[in-house]
Amino acid sequence: MVERDRPADADPLAWIRAQTPVLQSLAEDSAERSPLDGLTVAVASHLEPKTGVFVETLHEAGADVLFTGSNPHSVHGDVVAHLDDLDGVRGFAWEGMDHDDLDIAQHELLAAGPDVVCSDGAELLVKAHAEHPEVADDLLGAAEQTTSGVSRVEAMDADGALSVPVYRVNHTPVKHWFDNVHGTGESALANVMLSTNTVLSGSTVVVAGYGYVGRGIAQKARGIGARTVVTEVDPRKALQAHMHGHEVRPMAEAASEGDLFVTATGNCHVIREEHFDRMQDGTVLCNVGHRNVEIAIDDLRSMSVDRAEMGDGITCFELPDGRVVNLLADGELVNLAGPFSQGHPAGVMDTTFGAMFATVRHLATADEVPAPGAYDVPTRIDREVASRKLDALGVDVDEMTDLQEEYLASWDRESVV
Ligand code: NAI
Repeated sequence: MVERDRPADADPLAWIRAQTPVLQSLAEDSAERSPLDGLTVAVASHLEPKTGVFVETLHEAGADVLFTGSNPHSVHGDVVAHLDDLDGVRGFAWEGMDHDDLDIAQHELLAAGPDVVCSDGAELLVKAHAEHPEVADDLLGAAEQTTSGVSRVEAMDADGALSVPVYRVNHTPVKHWFDNVHGTGESALANVMLSTNTVLSGSTVVVAGYGYVGRGIAQKARGIGARTVVTEVDPRKALQAHMHGHEVRPMAEAASEGDLFVTATGNCHVIREEHFDRMQDGTVLCNVGHRNVEIAIDDLRSMSVDRAEMGDGITCFELPDGRVVNLLADGELVNLAGPFSQGHPAGVMDTTFGAMFATVRHLATADEVPAPGAYDVPTRIDREVASRKLDALGVDVDEMTDLQEEYLASWDRESVV
């Protein structure tokens, strides 16, 4: 995490407030009506300044907020302290906590009895269902912000284990078109370059997974001047990567070609012993998927004859034949848990948290709460957040004429025009 050398009383959210016009406009509109009055909202996310502003926005709309981390290494102590000072806001996290601490803190949060859960990775939802069924039964609903969390929620739903309605905020266009593609793409490569002090132009970047995140990373890496190789398991995504001009290879082949590997699959052990065996000396590995299981770190540990920390967030593993493979941020999300990480740019988290906020507002104000299950965010909410962003950017768009609406609604189009 970047060293924050500011006066002790500096407001850690000041800059981000100025970069998040969607959240500010939602807060302004809520100030009079307090749509979240009486509601206790739990937030489990990366506790850096953007999440801080999201928590503030929920609070300004009338909610009490309980917050915790979604990864122990992305907790900013100054943000936690700032939020903890607000009346009706309570933190269950601290900078320097480890995975066990986070587990305990999340249980403590659930014991405080939230009405709505906003999660990043579904951890709170899984814990509520598995170990606090009375809390899960009383939840009004939830909003899930990342791909891995949505897939866990869908697995719970398929098993008949889900007892609350959960909105798949990750899957709504105003989220994944921007946050996953551009936010992760830019912040991941920025962190790799800052951590390693290397130049990506002219290097070979191997991206594992060509979903929204992988697509953004491959696109940005090529924009910087790197040669890009993509690995996939889905033939449609592989074809898409090929048609976008990237080279597509199995990992067994790509392993010997890459200078930098970025995993973005949401899966586990995508790079493992058989791949480490083929890598070039000096290869750099990092992950941006939700958990630190995409790179089989235990394989690397057991294969290596020596290990050293050569720089902040860089672990060098020496293999028996003298080759060195470098792992960034212990295989955690490099853009959030790396030494220089500031998470996604504020401009994209503005729309992501805007969609999360509008979804919580929808749950709080809906005439009827839906039955347990996984739901898409209503299109009108998605469009509202995009329109607020365009307003803030000063970008105008056209409106359909009556004739155009009639034309598109008709199956007998010759009768219209
Ligand atoms: P996605 O579902 O759109 O894409 C994942 C891709 O990985 C799919 O195309 C899938 O076919 C492919 N894949 C699965 N197993 C593979 C394997 N063994 N080898 C190669 N490819 C494989 O998901 P999305 O939205 O791209 O997210 C990817 C991960 O990134 C998730 O864990 C998500 O939670 C995380 N994420 C991280 C962010 C960050 O800030 N670091 C932000 C947004 C998402």
